[in-house]
Amino acid sequence: MQILQVSAEYFPLLKTGGLADVAGALPQALLPLGCEVRPLLPGFAAMLDGLDEPVEVGRCLTPWGQPLRLLRGRLREPAGGPQAGAGIPAYVVDSAELYLRPGGPYETPDRQPHADNHRRFAALCWVAARLAEGFDPSWRPDLVHGHDWHAGLVPAYLAAAGSRVPCLFTVHNLAYQGLFPHADYAGLGLPAHWFQLEGLEFYGQLSFMKAGLYYADRLSTVSPSYAREIQSPEFGCGLDGLLRQRQAVLSGILNGIDDRVWNPLHDPHLPVNYGSDSLELRAGNKAALQAELGLEVRPELALFTVVSRLTEQKGLPLVLAGCDALVRQGAQLLVLGSGDRALEAAFAAKAAQHPGRVAVRLAYDEALSHRIFGGGDVTLVPSRFEPCGLTQIYGLAYGCLPLVRRVGGLADTVTDADLITLDEGRASGVVFDRMEQGDFDQAVRRMLALYRRPADWRQVQQTGMRQPLHWGDAAARYQALYRAMLVGDR
Ligand code: ADP
Ligand code: GLC
Repeated sequence: MQILQVSAEYFPLLKTGGLADVAGALPQALLPLGCEVRPLLPGFAAMLDGLDEPVEVGRCLTPWGQPLRLLRGRLREPAGGPQAGAGIPAYVVDSAELYLRPGGPYETPDRQPHADNHRRFAALCWVAARLAEGFDPSWRPDLVHGHDWHAGLVPAYLAAAGSRVPCLFTVHNLAYQGLFPHADYAGLGLPAHWFQLEGLEFYGQLSFMKAGLYYADRLSTVSPSYAREIQSPEFGCGLDGLLRQRQAVLSGILNGIDDRVWNPLHDPHLPVNYGSDSLELRAGNKAALQAELGLEVRPELALFTVVSRLTEQKGLPLVLAGCDALVRQGAQLLVLGSGDRALEAAFAAKAAQHPGRVAVRLAYDEALSHRIFGGGDVTLVPSRFEPCGLTQIYGLAYGCLPLVRRVGGLADTVTDADLITLDEGRASGVVFDRMEQGDFDQAVRRMLALYRRPADWRQVQQTGMRQPLHWGDAAARYQALYRAMLVGDR
């Protein structure tokens, strides 16, 4: 089975969040199941740099007349993993005009969306449809799998071309929709009359996300709970009606963890490697982390951590407001994150207020994130909504116990520690329900009570570390979905 995977990010080449981790893990996870997945990526500098042995497949003009080159090569794999250097074949859309510029993949250096984002990602989707129609004579996909709004126009372009190649569209986050003014629609090469309610129009704007949800043959999202939640007005971001209409073709497939990258037994970023049978070795990582961040090096203080984009989604005001109480109870807080300026400033102020007890790094630092999971005690993820969430999964795998809100993928991956779940050996973290300060503070107190019971704490760590959240299961479910689509059950 030949699958073209379309995404804007790809770990280890370019990452702003969990989308990259998933896009980078799926091709390798599906390989043993007989699926050859080839990524198609936009030609950001990091993608071009990571493409080994590039050859030109062909040149073309977009519907609005912009020249593009399609490159085929092999993608550099995560260092250290067993497949390092193997490099899977992939395509990159090469256009300096569209993709090579200062700033991030979506924003300018002063954090404004690039003005031509509609064209930058329409070009990606348009090339995907060309590949489905045979643009590369040496390889043609049986199916196209698009991820998030950046790939939303893929099924629209396939439909416009009358293609028989089916498309699966996966939602990683419904809150980012790729909305653009009506005027931007002209020139994208799609029928004018599709700009309507029964199409890709969303309250007078062009919605890439809605296009994906409307035109794809099958839909999926990244946890069973989020698949249910997005069919409700509370989580549906205005698209819940369409999602209810399409519920028969919508699945929730929980993300996995990429063992090549996230395994404390052989993680090259950790000062000390360890496993579920050698948890005492974590103490070395914790001391190193406390020292590195200027925290008091005291093993007895529970070290709460946050590794996150600093955005509305992540529920971080609860952490800010709960910080003083947390410190009063003899704990430490370490935050690694970047994003919203107000949240950045508020966390920096907390660090200034509690030297030695609260440390904040306003940065994106992949290596430090590994050291945090490998040395911290608690991973805080109190999200308002969370399609899947990967940091709580990394926390589970590293024995850095997750404290999460019962929502989306967080609810599907963490089992709250109470007397029953402890007794049955199922407890893997602490879970709270309502987005309220009292609930969060209570969860912190419960976590600290557990911390004071070392035997129970260790058992909960081990339960999480032995939980099978590897990509194998998810890959098997994607494969089954692809199969069903290919036998005509679109
Ligand atoms: P989201 O995709 O919504 O940001 P996820 O939990 O699915 O949330 O994925 C976030 C990914 O980004 C994880 O791999 C996490 O470790 C990483 N990450 C987030 N913020 C940072 C940061 N400041 N430094 C390093 N890694 C980060
Ligand atoms: C999105 C979601 C996150 C999910 C990730 C990967 O960024 O916010 O919950 O884990 O995609 O699927």
